[in-house]
Amino acid sequence: MQQVELDQIRKVFDQEIENISSSGELEQLRIKYFSRNGIITRLFDELKSVPVEEKPAYGKLLNTLRTQATEEFNKKKSLLESGESNDLSKLDLTLPGKIFNIGSKHILTQTLYEIKSIFKGLGFSIYDGPELESDYYNFEALNFPADHPARDMQDTFFVSEKFLLRTHTTPVQIRIMEKEQPPIRAIMPGRVYRNEAISSRSYCMFHQVDGIYIDTDVSFAELKGTLVSFAHQFYGEGLKYRFRPSFFPFTEPSAEMDITCYICLGKGCRVCKYSGWLEILGCGMVDPNVFKNVDYDSDKYTGYAFGMGIERIAMLKYGIDDIRIFFENDLRFLKQF
Ligand code: DAH
Repeated sequence: MQQVELDQIRKVFDQEIENISSSGELEQLRIKYFSRNGIITRLFDELKSVPVEEKPAYGKLLNTLRTQATEEFNKKKSLLESGESNDLSKLDLTLPGKIFNIGSKHILTQTLYEIKSIFKGLGFSIYDGPELESDYYNFEALNFPADHPARDMQDTFFVSEKFLLRTHTTPVQIRIMEKEQPPIRAIMPGRVYRNEAISSRSYCMFHQVDGIYIDTDVSFAELKGTLVSFAHQFYGEGLKYRFRPSFFPFTEPSAEMDITCYICLGKGCRVCKYSGWLEILGCGMVDPNVFKNVDYDSDKYTGYAFGMGIERIAMLKYGIDDIRIFFENDLRFLKQF
């Protein structure tokens, strides 16, 4: 054996190992070169027949060939192993997966969607209005005269003498009536603001839905029918309800609707202040003074109106006892819905 021949073997080995792409092929290469009958092993066997004086030099060349070939072999082996860990068949599919958190709708959004869908089913359309309102729409047009004590019912954030953050969604009723002629059947959801001390029961910002139905011959009985149908769909068929006389400047007569307390089922508890009832909304027949402000003929048209707080409706439905929790974005709370 000459050095030229060893170089030739090395060259072929290098080419072969370069082209290998799987551990199966690498094993074939191992057998071909390094096994008992492998090319390199046999070269060592043949060393015996080499003339004594050439042995040391040849042996050295042979050792170099084996060391370098082995090194290349090991390098290729670890390269293939790291690459093959991506191979699906080598994955342990029983390992627990990664958790991907999927976003979901806020409970207030869900509640609003439900309210909207119930009223849509009853034939109502949906309207929007500005959160920055004028004193005229928020109070004046709704029959709250200047300096009238009824204005104190709603603590207001004034932006200037004339403008304010709306304290209810009722001003949108005026905006709709100014633009359209009866029959009108609409709900108006949105954000409202009150300058109140923050507590478990009140927050500086919350959401309301107002509703109106205006046509010839709209009656209080229809108002009751609509609201009872809403309450049954939202809280369940078995629910008991009652209407109590109340006061709002923009409706006459006015009422508040109560439902049976969901905690004590009417027996009386801390949540319902031992009355067995929970107030869910305000309502009434649109006051003729409001019709006058939008140039509707109050001899021809009558209408009903109602308004409810979305947080309150959701708190009663889900047994939430602190309004602030809606706005804290604590995932432990949000994830429950
Ligand atoms: N705007 C009233 C409030 O914020 C709620 C309300 C009561 C709205 C009666 C109405 C209504 O449309 O008819 O307290």
